[in-house]
Amino acid sequence: MANVNLSAAKRAKYDEFYTQYRDIEKEISAYLDYDPHVFRGKTILLPCDDPEWSNFTRYFAQNFERFGLKKLISTSYAADSKTYSDAYQPTLFETADPKFDRGKTTLNGKIFTLTGDRTGDREINIDDLEWDYLDGDGDFRSAEVTRLRDESDMIITNPPFSLFREFLAWIVETDKQFVIIGNLNAITYKEVFPLIKDDIIWLGNGFQAGNAYFFTPNTDNYAEGVFNPETGLVKFRNVCWFTNLDHGRRHQPLPLMTMEDNLKFSKHKQIRGKASYDRYDNYDAIEVPFTDAIPSDYDGVMGVPISFLDKYNPEQFEIMGMCENLDLYNMKTKVYTTEQCKQAYFAKFGKPGTYDLNASGVIEKNGLLEKVYQRILIQHRRGSAK
Ligand SMILES: C[S@@+](CC[C@H](N)C(=O)[O-])C[C@H]1O[C@@H](n2cnc3c(N)ncnc32)[C@H](O)[C@@H]1O
Repeated sequence: MANVNLSAAKRAKYDEFYTQYRDIEKEISAYLDYDPHVFRGKTILLPCDDPEWSNFTRYFAQNFERFGLKKLISTSYAADSKTYSDAYQPTLFETADPKFDRGKTTLNGKIFTLTGDRTGDREINIDDLEWDYLDGDGDFRSAEVTRLRDESDMIITNPPFSLFREFLAWIVETDKQFVIIGNLNAITYKEVFPLIKDDIIWLGNGFQAGNAYFFTPNTDNYAEGVFNPETGLVKFRNVCWFTNLDHGRRHQPLPLMTMEDNLKFSKHKQIRGKASYDRYDNYDAIEVPFTDAIPSDYDGVMGVPISFLDKYNPEQFEIMGMCENLDLYNMKTKVYTTEQCKQAYFAKFGKPGTYDLNASGVIEKNGLLEKVYQRILIQHRRGSAK
Protein backbone atom coordinates (compact mmCIF):
# COMPACT_ATOMS: atom_id res chain seq x y z
CA MET A 1 0.00 0.00 0.00
CA ALA A 2 1.40 3.41 -0.89
CA ASN A 3 1.04 6.27 1.53
CA VAL A 4 -0.18 9.81 1.78
CA ASN A 5 1.40 12.47 3.91
CA LEU A 6 -0.28 14.83 6.28
CA SER A 7 0.71 17.89 4.31
CA ALA A 8 -1.16 16.51 1.29
CA ALA A 9 -4.20 16.11 3.54
CA LYS A 10 -3.62 19.61 4.76
CA ARG A 11 -3.54 21.01 1.23
CA ALA A 12 -6.79 19.24 0.46
CA LYS A 13 -8.24 20.54 3.74
CA TYR A 14 -9.67 17.12 4.18
CA ASP A 15 -9.76 16.05 7.80
CA GLU A 16 -11.84 12.93 8.14
CA PHE A 17 -9.26 10.39 9.29
CA TYR A 18 -10.13 8.26 12.28
CA THR A 19 -7.63 6.76 14.68
CA GLN A 20 -7.59 3.02 15.29
CA TYR A 21 -8.48 1.75 18.74
CA ARG A 22 -5.28 -0.24 19.06
CA ASP A 23 -3.12 2.82 18.28
CA ILE A 24 -4.85 4.79 21.02
CA GLU A 25 -4.48 1.88 23.43
CA LYS A 26 -0.78 1.44 22.67
CA GLU A 27 -0.02 5.12 23.14
CA ILE A 28 -2.02 5.59 26.31
CA SER A 29 -0.52 2.41 27.81
CA ALA A 30 2.93 4.00 27.61
CA TYR A 31 1.84 6.82 29.97
CA LEU A 32 0.14 4.37 32.30
CA ASP A 33 3.24 2.15 32.41
CA TYR A 34 5.23 5.18 33.50
CA ASP A 35 2.65 6.44 36.01
CA PRO A 36 -0.33 4.14 36.72
CA HIS A 37 -2.20 7.07 38.33
CA VAL A 38 -1.67 9.53 35.51
CA PHE A 39 -5.42 9.82 34.78
CA ARG A 40 -6.72 9.44 38.32
CA GLY A 41 -9.31 12.10 39.25
CA LYS A 42 -8.86 13.83 35.90
CA THR A 43 -11.38 15.42 33.57
CA ILE A 44 -10.42 14.56 30.01
CA LEU A 45 -11.62 16.52 26.99
CA LEU A 46 -11.64 14.77 23.61
CA PRO A 47 -12.34 17.59 21.14
CA CYS A 48 -12.66 17.18 17.34
CA ASP A 49 -13.99 13.73 18.05
CA ASP A 50 -17.17 11.91 17.28
CA PRO A 51 -18.03 8.81 19.27
CA GLU A 52 -20.18 7.58 16.41
CA TRP A 53 -17.11 7.43 14.20
CA SER A 54 -14.08 7.57 16.37
CA ASN A 55 -12.40 5.43 19.01
CA PHE A 56 -11.03 7.95 21.50
CA THR A 57 -14.35 8.25 23.35
CA ARG A 58 -14.91 4.52 23.15
CA TYR A 59 -11.47 3.79 24.60
CA PHE A 60 -11.70 6.22 27.52
CA ALA A 61 -15.33 5.29 28.29
CA GLN A 62 -14.40 1.62 28.45
CA ASN A 63 -11.49 2.37 30.77
CA PHE A 64 -13.22 5.06 32.83
CA GLU A 65 -13.16 3.09 36.09
CA ARG A 66 -9.77 1.46 35.62
CA PHE A 67 -8.16 4.87 35.03
CA GLY A 68 -10.10 6.46 37.92
CA LEU A 69 -11.39 9.27 35.71
CA LYS A 70 -13.54 12.01 37.16
CA LYS A 71 -15.24 13.05 33.92
CA LEU A 72 -15.00 12.46 30.20
CA ILE A 73 -16.16 15.10 27.75
CA SER A 74 -16.02 14.69 24.01
CA THR A 75 -17.20 17.09 21.35
CA SER A 76 -17.89 16.55 17.68
CA TYR A 77 -17.83 18.94 14.76
CA ALA A 78 -21.10 19.66 12.93
CA ALA A 79 -21.64 17.60 9.79
CA ASP A 80 -22.21 20.72 7.66
CA SER A 81 -18.88 22.20 8.79
CA LYS A 82 -16.88 19.13 7.79
CA THR A 83 -15.12 19.13 4.44
CA TYR A 84 -16.40 15.64 3.76
CA SER A 85 -19.42 16.45 1.62
CA ASP A 86 -21.31 13.18 1.15
CA ALA A 87 -24.91 13.44 2.31
CA TYR A 88 -24.90 13.19 6.08
CA GLN A 89 -27.21 10.61 7.63
CA PRO A 90 -27.78 10.87 11.36
CA THR A 91 -27.43 7.50 13.06
CA LEU A 92 -30.16 5.61 14.86
CA PHE A 93 -28.40 6.51 18.09
CA GLU A 94 -29.37 10.13 17.41
CA THR A 95 -32.71 9.80 15.60
CA ALA A 96 -34.13 7.35 18.15
CA ASP A 97 -33.37 9.72 21.02
CA PRO A 98 -36.10 12.15 22.18
CA LYS A 99 -33.45 14.89 21.92
CA PHE A 100 -33.18 14.41 18.16
CA ASP A 101 -33.68 17.74 16.39
CA ARG A 102 -33.81 17.76 12.60
CA GLY A 103 -32.90 21.45 12.55
CA LYS A 104 -29.74 20.88 14.56
CA THR A 105 -28.47 17.56 13.29
CA THR A 106 -26.18 18.94 10.59
CA LEU A 107 -25.56 22.47 11.88
CA ASN A 108 -24.63 21.86 15.49
CA GLY A 109 -21.78 19.96 17.04
CA LYS A 110 -22.51 17.50 19.84
CA ILE A 111 -21.24 17.08 23.34
CA PHE A 112 -20.96 13.70 25.06
CA THR A 113 -20.26 13.43 28.77
CA LEU A 114 -19.56 10.56 31.10
CA THR A 115 -19.40 10.84 34.86
CA GLY A 116 -20.64 7.49 36.14
CA ASP A 117 -22.99 4.53 35.79
CA ARG A 118 -26.11 6.08 34.26
CA THR A 119 -27.71 2.83 33.06
CA GLY A 120 -27.53 1.18 36.49
CA ASP A 121 -25.82 -2.00 35.22
CA ARG A 122 -22.92 -1.42 37.67
CA GLU A 123 -20.49 -0.90 34.84
CA ILE A 124 -19.26 2.33 33.38
CA ASN A 125 -18.88 2.24 29.62
CA ILE A 126 -19.93 3.89 26.37
CA ASP A 127 -23.62 3.19 27.14
CA ASP A 128 -23.41 5.61 30.04
CA LEU A 129 -22.58 8.58 27.81
CA GLU A 130 -25.04 11.43 27.89
CA TRP A 131 -25.26 13.67 24.86
CA ASP A 132 -26.72 16.92 23.65
CA TYR A 133 -26.32 19.37 20.83
CA LEU A 134 -23.79 22.15 21.31
CA ASP A 135 -25.03 25.69 20.76
CA GLY A 136 -22.49 26.09 17.96
CA ASP A 137 -20.82 23.83 15.41
CA GLY A 138 -18.20 22.39 17.80
CA ASP A 139 -15.25 24.31 16.36
CA PHE A 140 -12.48 23.91 18.92
CA ARG A 141 -11.79 27.65 18.59
CA SER A 142 -15.33 28.60 19.69
CA ALA A 143 -15.93 30.12 23.12
CA GLU A 144 -18.13 27.13 23.90
CA VAL A 145 -15.46 24.46 23.34
CA THR A 146 -12.77 26.70 24.82
CA ARG A 147 -14.78 26.80 28.05
CA LEU A 148 -14.79 22.99 28.06
CA ARG A 149 -11.03 23.03 27.55
CA ASP A 150 -10.66 25.35 30.53
CA GLU A 151 -12.65 23.07 32.81
CA SER A 152 -10.61 19.99 31.79
CA ASP A 153 -7.26 18.72 33.02
CA MET A 154 -6.22 16.95 29.82
CA ILE A 155 -6.87 17.24 26.11
CA ILE A 156 -6.47 14.12 23.99
CA THR A 157 -7.30 13.77 20.30
CA ASN A 158 -6.24 13.47 16.71
CA PRO A 159 -6.93 17.09 15.68
CA PRO A 160 -7.74 18.22 12.14
CA PHE A 161 -4.51 17.93 10.18
CA SER A 162 -5.23 21.18 8.37
CA LEU A 163 -5.37 23.11 11.67
CA PHE A 164 -2.53 21.50 13.62
CA ARG A 165 -0.64 24.74 14.40
CA GLU A 166 -3.78 26.45 15.60
CA PHE A 167 -4.81 23.44 17.62
CA LEU A 168 -1.46 23.17 19.41
CA ALA A 169 -1.47 26.91 20.10
CA TRP A 170 -5.00 26.55 21.51
CA ILE A 171 -3.69 23.94 23.95
CA VAL A 172 -0.43 25.52 25.01
CA GLU A 173 -2.03 28.88 25.75
CA THR A 174 -3.39 27.03 28.79
CA ASP A 175 -1.52 24.93 31.27
CA LYS A 176 -3.19 21.64 30.34
CA GLN A 177 -1.74 18.20 29.87
CA PHE A 178 -2.25 16.81 26.40
CA VAL A 179 -1.65 13.96 23.98
CA ILE A 180 -2.34 14.71 20.30
CA ILE A 181 -1.44 13.29 16.91
CA GLY A 182 0.52 15.32 14.35
CA ASN A 183 3.10 15.23 11.60
CA LEU A 184 6.77 14.85 12.53
CA ASN A 185 7.54 17.86 10.34
CA ALA A 186 5.54 20.04 12.72
CA ILE A 187 8.67 19.89 14.92
CA THR A 188 10.29 22.44 12.64
CA TYR A 189 7.44 24.97 12.83
CA LYS A 190 8.65 28.15 14.48
CA GLU A 191 5.76 27.93 16.96
CA VAL A 192 6.58 24.31 17.86
CA PHE A 193 10.36 23.93 17.90
CA PRO A 194 11.00 26.33 20.84
CA LEU A 195 8.60 24.23 22.96
CA ILE A 196 10.49 21.05 22.04
CA LYS A 197 13.85 22.68 22.63
CA ASP A 198 12.84 23.80 26.12
CA ASP A 199 11.36 20.37 27.00
CA ILE A 200 7.88 21.85 27.40
CA ILE A 201 6.48 19.34 24.91
CA TRP A 202 7.98 16.20 23.37
CA LEU A 203 7.18 13.22 21.22
CA GLY A 204 5.02 10.47 22.63
CA ASN A 205 5.64 6.78 22.49
CA GLY A 206 4.77 6.70 18.79
CA PHE A 207 3.45 4.67 15.89
CA GLN A 208 5.37 1.73 14.48
CA ALA A 209 8.19 3.30 12.42
CA GLY A 210 6.11 6.49 12.10
CA ASN A 211 3.54 4.78 9.87
CA ALA A 212 -0.06 5.31 10.87
CA TYR A 213 -3.18 3.83 9.31
CA PHE A 214 -6.38 5.83 9.70
CA PHE A 215 -9.95 4.93 8.77
CA THR A 216 -11.58 7.29 6.31
CA PRO A 217 -15.11 7.61 4.92
CA ASN A 218 -13.60 9.15 1.78
CA THR A 219 -12.97 6.25 -0.55
CA ASP A 220 -12.23 8.16 -3.77
CA ASN A 221 -9.65 10.94 -4.24
CA TYR A 222 -6.59 8.78 -3.57
CA ALA A 223 -3.77 7.88 -5.88
CA GLU A 224 -3.74 4.21 -6.67
CA GLY A 225 -2.64 2.04 -3.77
CA VAL A 226 -2.99 4.75 -1.08
CA PHE A 227 -6.33 3.58 0.19
CA ASN A 228 -7.06 -0.06 0.99
CA PRO A 229 -10.78 -0.70 0.26
CA GLU A 230 -10.71 -3.98 2.18
CA THR A 231 -9.73 -2.38 5.46
CA GLY A 232 -10.95 1.19 4.82
CA LEU A 233 -7.51 2.40 5.95
CA VAL A 234 -5.24 5.09 4.53
CA LYS A 235 -1.52 4.96 5.27
CA PHE A 236 0.28 8.09 6.44
CA ARG A 237 4.04 8.40 6.96
CA ASN A 238 5.89 10.48 9.55
CA VAL A 239 3.04 10.57 12.03
CA CYS A 240 3.76 11.00 15.72
CA TRP A 241 2.13 11.89 19.00
CA PHE A 242 2.96 15.19 20.70
CA THR A 243 2.55 15.39 24.44
CA ASN A 244 3.64 16.84 27.75
CA LEU A 245 2.94 13.59 29.65
CA ASP A 246 6.00 11.63 30.62
CA HIS A 247 6.67 8.10 29.38
CA GLY A 248 9.43 5.57 29.88
CA ARG A 249 10.92 5.45 26.39
CA ARG A 250 11.83 9.11 26.78
CA HIS A 251 14.27 8.23 29.54
CA GLN A 252 15.99 5.30 27.86
CA PRO A 253 19.54 6.23 26.85
CA LEU A 254 20.34 5.90 23.18
CA PRO A 255 23.13 3.28 22.81
CA LEU A 256 26.01 4.86 20.90
CA MET A 257 29.56 4.12 19.67
CA THR A 258 32.56 6.42 20.00
CA MET A 259 33.49 8.60 17.06
CA GLU A 260 36.49 6.39 16.30
CA ASP A 261 34.34 3.24 16.25
CA ASN A 262 31.73 4.89 14.06
CA LEU A 263 34.37 5.88 11.55
CA LYS A 264 35.64 2.29 11.52
CA PHE A 265 32.50 0.19 11.93
CA SER A 266 29.36 2.26 11.23
CA LYS A 267 26.77 0.44 9.16
CA HIS A 268 26.39 3.64 7.13
CA LYS A 269 28.80 3.84 4.24
CA GLN A 270 28.63 7.68 4.38
CA ILE A 271 30.45 7.44 7.75
CA ARG A 272 32.44 4.20 7.63
CA GLY A 273 35.98 4.64 6.31
CA LYS A 274 35.98 8.45 6.49
CA ALA A 275 38.82 10.24 8.28
CA SER A 276 36.39 12.41 10.25
CA TYR A 277 32.78 13.65 10.41
CA ASP A 278 31.97 16.57 8.11
CA ARG A 279 31.89 20.00 9.71
CA TYR A 280 29.45 22.67 8.67
CA ASP A 281 30.74 25.72 6.90
CA ASN A 282 28.10 27.90 8.60
CA TYR A 283 27.73 26.37 12.09
CA ASP A 284 30.31 25.35 14.66
CA ALA A 285 29.04 21.77 14.57
CA ILE A 286 29.59 18.40 12.94
CA GLU A 287 27.14 16.84 10.50
CA VAL A 288 25.65 13.55 11.76
CA PRO A 289 23.35 12.25 9.03
CA PHE A 290 21.95 9.31 11.07
CA THR A 291 20.74 9.20 14.65
CA ASP A 292 22.53 5.92 15.31
CA ALA A 293 25.80 7.50 14.14
CA ILE A 294 25.83 10.13 16.91
CA PRO A 295 29.28 9.74 18.50
CA SER A 296 29.13 8.99 22.21
CA ASP A 297 32.31 10.95 23.00
CA TYR A 298 31.94 14.20 21.06
CA ASP A 299 31.55 17.22 23.32
CA GLY A 300 30.62 19.83 20.74
CA VAL A 301 27.43 20.60 18.84
CA MET A 302 26.08 18.02 16.36
CA GLY A 303 23.53 18.45 13.56
CA VAL A 304 21.15 15.46 13.53
CA PRO A 305 18.00 14.52 11.55
CA ILE A 306 14.66 15.60 13.03
CA SER A 307 13.75 11.92 13.50
CA PHE A 308 16.33 11.99 16.32
CA LEU A 309 13.56 13.45 18.50
CA ASP A 310 11.90 10.07 18.55
CA LYS A 311 14.96 8.84 20.47
CA TYR A 312 15.60 12.00 22.43
CA ASN A 313 16.35 11.50 26.11
CA PRO A 314 16.63 14.83 27.94
CA GLU A 315 19.07 13.40 30.49
CA GLN A 316 21.44 12.38 27.70
CA PHE A 317 21.18 15.31 25.28
CA GLU A 318 20.44 18.99 25.19
CA ILE A 319 18.72 20.57 22.19
CA MET A 320 20.60 23.72 21.24
CA GLY A 321 18.72 24.93 18.16
CA MET A 322 17.95 24.13 14.58
CA CYS A 323 19.51 24.99 11.23
CA GLU A 324 17.14 27.58 9.78
CA ASN A 325 17.11 30.84 7.91
CA LEU A 326 16.44 33.36 10.64
CA ASP A 327 19.15 32.23 13.08
CA LEU A 328 16.57 32.27 15.87
CA TYR A 329 18.96 30.35 18.13
CA ASN A 330 22.08 32.50 17.45
CA MET A 331 24.13 29.58 16.24
CA LYS A 332 25.19 30.59 12.73
CA THR A 333 28.86 31.38 12.26
CA LYS A 334 28.30 32.65 8.73
CA VAL A 335 25.52 34.23 6.67
CA TYR A 336 25.99 33.86 2.90
CA THR A 337 25.49 36.82 0.60
CA THR A 338 23.07 36.67 -2.34
CA GLU A 339 26.10 36.59 -4.61
CA GLN A 340 27.53 33.56 -2.78
CA CYS A 341 24.16 31.77 -3.06
CA LYS A 342 24.13 32.44 -6.80
CA GLN A 343 27.73 31.27 -7.22
CA ALA A 344 27.04 28.10 -5.24
CA TYR A 345 24.06 27.35 -7.48
CA PHE A 346 26.01 27.86 -10.66
CA ALA A 347 28.91 25.76 -9.39
CA LYS A 348 26.55 22.92 -8.45
CA PHE A 349 24.02 22.94 -11.27
CA GLY A 350 25.90 24.69 -14.11
CA LYS A 351 23.12 27.21 -14.73
CA PRO A 352 22.00 30.50 -13.16
CA GLY A 353 19.92 30.30 -9.99
CA THR A 354 20.08 30.83 -6.24
CA TYR A 355 21.03 28.10 -3.79
CA ASP A 356 19.47 29.14 -0.48
CA LEU A 357 22.49 28.24 1.64
CA ASN A 358 21.20 30.17 4.64
CA ALA A 359 18.21 27.85 5.05
CA SER A 360 20.23 24.89 6.31
CA GLY A 361 23.55 23.46 7.41
CA VAL A 362 26.15 23.58 4.62
CA ILE A 363 29.10 21.26 4.09
CA GLU A 364 31.88 21.43 1.53
CA LYS A 365 32.03 18.40 -0.73
CA ASN A 366 34.45 18.04 -3.65
CA GLY A 367 35.02 21.79 -3.55
CA LEU A 368 31.25 22.54 -3.75
CA LEU A 369 28.96 23.94 -1.07
CA GLU A 370 26.17 21.44 -0.34
CA LYS A 371 23.05 22.00 1.76
CA VAL A 372 22.17 19.10 4.06
CA TYR A 373 18.64 18.01 5.07
CA GLN A 374 16.82 19.66 7.94
CA ARG A 375 18.95 19.33 11.09
CA ILE A 376 18.46 19.83 14.80
CA LEU A 377 21.53 20.98 16.71
CA ILE A 378 22.18 18.98 19.85
CA GLN A 379 24.93 18.40 22.38
CA HIS A 380 25.58 15.71 24.96
CA ARG A 381 24.47 16.90 28.38
CA ARG A 382 27.53 18.12 30.23
CA GLY A 383 29.37 15.08 31.49
CA SER A 384 27.32 12.56 29.52
CA ALA A 385 29.72 12.39 26.51
CA LYS A 386 32.07 9.43 26.99
C1 LIG B 1 -8.16 13.79 11.91
S1 LIG B 1 -9.88 13.71 12.32
C2 LIG B 1 -9.82 12.82 13.79
C3 LIG B 1 -11.12 12.39 14.33
C4 LIG B 1 -11.04 11.71 15.70
N1 LIG B 1 -10.48 12.60 16.69
C5 LIG B 1 -10.19 10.45 15.60
O1 LIG B 1 -9.00 10.52 15.82
O2 LIG B 1 -10.72 9.39 15.28
C6 LIG B 1 -10.18 15.39 12.81
C7 LIG B 1 -11.63 15.71 13.07
O3 LIG B 1 -11.72 17.12 13.41
C8 LIG B 1 -12.87 17.68 12.79
N2 LIG B 1 -12.63 19.12 12.63
C9 LIG B 1 -12.18 19.77 11.53
N3 LIG B 1 -12.08 21.09 11.79
C10 LIG B 1 -12.48 21.26 13.07
C11 LIG B 1 -12.61 22.39 13.91
N4 LIG B 1 -12.28 23.62 13.47
N5 LIG B 1 -13.04 22.21 15.17
C12 LIG B 1 -13.37 20.97 15.62
N6 LIG B 1 -13.25 19.85 14.87
C13 LIG B 1 -12.83 20.00 13.61
C14 LIG B 1 -12.97 16.94 11.48
O4 LIG B 1 -14.29 17.03 10.97
C15 LIG B 1 -12.54 15.53 11.87
O5 LIG B 1 -13.64 14.76 12.24
